Amino acid sequence: MSQDLQPRFEPHAAGEMASMFDDVSGRYDFLNRVMTLGQDGAWREAMWRAVPEDAHVVLDLCTGSGVSLPGLRRPGRVVLGMDVSFQMLEVAQAQYGTSGWAPRIACSDAFRLPLRDGSLDAITIAFGVRNLRPRPAALAELARVLRPGGTLVVLEASAPAPGALHPFHAFWVRHMIPLFGRLSPDPSAYRYLSASIFEFGHGPEFVRDMAAQGFTLVREKAFLLGATRLWVARRGGAVGQNHAADSQAVRNARGESGENPQSPRGAPAVADEARAWLGVQALTSGALTAALGYAVYTWLNFRALLPLTEIQRFALWTLLIAGLVLFGARTVWLGLRFAAAGKGSDRVG
Ligand SMILES: C[S@@+](CC[C@H](N)C(=O)[O-])C[C@H]1O[C@@H](n2cnc3c(N)ncnc32)[C@H](O)[C@@H]1O
Repeated sequence: MSQDLQPRFEPHAAGEMASMFDDVSGRYDFLNRVMTLGQDGAWREAMWRAVPEDAHVVLDLCTGSGVSLPGLRRPGRVVLGMDVSFQMLEVAQAQYGTSGWAPRIACSDAFRLPLRDGSLDAITIAFGVRNLRPRPAALAELARVLRPGGTLVVLEASAPAPGALHPFHAFWVRHMIPLFGRLSPDPSAYRYLSASIFEFGHGPEFVRDMAAQGFTLVREKAFLLGATRLWVARRGGAVGQNHAADSQAVRNARGESGENPQSPRGAPAVADEARAWLGVQALTSGALTAALGYAVYTWLNFRALLPLTEIQRFALWTLLIAGLVLFGARTVWLGLRFAAAGKGSDRVG
């Protein structure tokens, strides 16, 4: 591991994290969207849906620029956003802190949250838990502030799992992420990102760490062939111990109508937004398919001129064809879902 990454892997490196994220805050959201191939919106929707409707006090930890905050809003719910980087929080404050609905934003270290024991009903963390080392201590702090039975929802980029796709996924994390990171004011932050994904592992390690701190895994889901994963867990503990609020005692401002609207804007607006998202994803995927098609065409015409070894030729050839097939199929699938979402009032996402 290179010298400039070393301090960021030290335990409790909150200061290093804060200054690294301060430096990249300006272009963070843009690069995040590019590197997740425009998929992070759909993944966040899955994270929001995993938070119980009757969760009244919800913390989005490592909230960064606050991109996960709006999806958590519900009538009668208090939403907190916490992060160690002031500049990321300034972006969050500028975007979401002044609207009619505003989350409560605070700068704080995940290892020392300024919250009372058992004061939260749910915690969400998107692309943040990987940075919290040592992980058992971070999870112990989450268990402290979450009430027994409370929900922890974690979305995280994961390392390549063993299997046929391992080489492609490993290539993406090892080479493509640092390459995109060159567009950032601090490319070393993206070398760190790549290294920290490998260090985080592909899931079983994290599930074990959660179990050791008293969390029970409820659900796990993989996105983009395992490049990102979602874990939903419940904090164990005796019933009646440290409840943030008795869910019977706090009434939901929307009443008891049953079906879960995604936000106060109401179901039609959410369905429109979800459909628009599908459209954007289909277009992105289509553009990637076209780019890969062009790359295959170029490769076929100029491969003899390239100074590559046999193994490199084979790897490049396999990558191009696999990418073309994969993204072609994905474009068709997204296109069909987009069309279906337009016909009916079905929920999409
Ligand atoms: C990759 S960003 C994710 C931001 C946002 N959740 C998202 O989905 O885009 C990770 C965030 O974790 C924050 N972070 C890192 N270490 C932290 C710590 N010890 N306490 C609180 N936040 C921390 C960073 O400042 C950064 O904003």
